[in-house]
Amino acid sequence: MKSRKILIAGNWKMNKTTAEGVELVKEIAAEVGKQSEVEVLVCPPAVALDGGGKALEGTSIKLGAQNMHPKPSGAFTGEISAEMIRHHFATYVILGHSERRTYFFETDAFINEKVLAALKSLLRPILCIGETLEERDADKTLDVIRTQLEGGLAGVSADDMTSVVIAYEPVWAIGTGRNATPEQAQEVHAFIRKWLTDKFGEAVAQKVRILYGGSMKPVNAADLLAQEDIDGGLIGGASLEARSFVEIINAAKAAS
Ligand code: PGA
Repeated sequence: MKSRKILIAGNWKMNKTTAEGVELVKEIAAEVGKQSEVEVLVCPPAVALDGGGKALEGTSIKLGAQNMHPKPSGAFTGEISAEMIRHHFATYVILGHSERRTYFFETDAFINEKVLAALKSLLRPILCIGETLEERDADKTLDVIRTQLEGGLAGVSADDMTSVVIAYEPVWAIGTGRNATPEQAQEVHAFIRKWLTDKFGEAVAQKVRILYGGSMKPVNAADLLAQEDIDGGLIGGASLEARSFVEIINAAKAAS
């Protein structure tokens, strides 16, 4: 029996037109749109937030964005604000994904601005952290995790921290088909929980959900979710098809 409600979040990345996205959320909703044992979230591309959100009306499935700019408005061509996301009844936003860090050079300081701005706008941040293969091989995993936590969560109050979700995503496991073993993931999740306990106290740390992300699939979801400190998954590839996403949700139900 898990003390925290499992969160299964689909990160569609740059996939699906609005029409395709609406189709996919309808298929997911038909299977798991009424249950409340597991919290289910879909994060489509920004242009599909409107259509996806409307298709989810009347279901228990939540909507989130994949990124946002920290400023409320202004001359930031190509960006979207927390307010724009909220307008579509989205409640979560993924921040600091390793693809944003790698391809768009996002730093911990910039990600921290976004985390604080999201919280101010009552959006729940899913803060992504994780080491590269070189860092793991050099035995630097926990140092990297600590630096990303300290940087990304600077200035977050204990109260606000209960609204934040952490996603541990080893970069070498994302989209590679090579997931962390449940033991490897649990070791880092336990380290994150300990860091949260030291910084925010036991009561807060016990409430924060820590997701695993990186090639989570129906075949490995149950073993990963059975770990004490793994409270859900951030799913990329396997969230693009209703069948595999629903199978992971069903594995989460069984682990709840
Ligand atoms: P993946 O992506 O499941 O395709 O590895 C996970 C993520 O990047 O959030």
